[in-house]
Amino acid sequence: MASLQRSVNVGGEITSFVGGDRGNWQIEAMTTIIGGALDTSTHLDMISDGTQPVGTDHVWVLQGVPSYHRYVNRREHDLLTAGKPALGRPEATCAALIPIKKSESWWALPQDERRAILEEQSQHIQIGLRYVPAVARRLYHCHDLGGPFDFLTWFEYAPQHRGLFNELTQRLRDSQEWHYVEREVDIRLVRR
Ligand code: HEM
Repeated sequence: MASLQRSVNVGGEITSFVGGDRGNWQIEAMTTIIGGALDTSTHLDMISDGTQPVGTDHVWVLQGVPSYHRYVNRREHDLLTAGKPALGRPEATCAALIPIKKSESWWALPQDERRAILEEQSQHIQIGLRYVPAVARRLYHCHDLGGPFDFLTWFEYAPQHRGLFNELTQRLRDSQEWHYVEREVDIRLVRR
């Protein structure tokens, strides 16, 4: 295998998640929830310096960009900001990368109807807030980057909160919002 090169600059804001045989995170499990699988890899590397790997030394690369909130109202904004745990906490040695693609029918809806499904019908934010500060998160958008997913969702938590995180994902997957999810891969990781 050729050595990993990181010479292509793709813009400072873009984060690349690289599946391969090296990286700071070891992949414990990859579960395809719906839609096509991702090829199996043993490690994940996260590159946030605006470059991406070139060559053949990886199995897949997923790219996303942190963005502004589309749906949160003032009250939710304040709750999210007040309780927001930092990424990279030493005790949070478990992580999940969950790439998600929503259907054309979701994207065809106007903003207010998407908000109503996400929160008024599905309580995504209300449910999620109950798992803070145990779970730290970051949402990367990629719908407009032309990749295979619309969102790359990233979560970090301590090993004793694995069960809690499973409960959270199940509650969201049981919601109305998830009827619009047509591809989802759940990748569980531990820090090496
Ligand atoms: C720690 C618990 C969680 C909290 C507090 C939380 C909070 C939020 C918030 C506030 C948004 C809306 C952002 C906006 O206004 O644009 C959002 C979006 C999103 N979340 Fe969560 N979330 C949590 C857990 C999860 C989990 C476990 C998943 C995946 C299984 C997930 C998947 C997503 C996706 C895909 C979006 C984008 C939805 C869209 O724009 O269509 N979230 N989340």
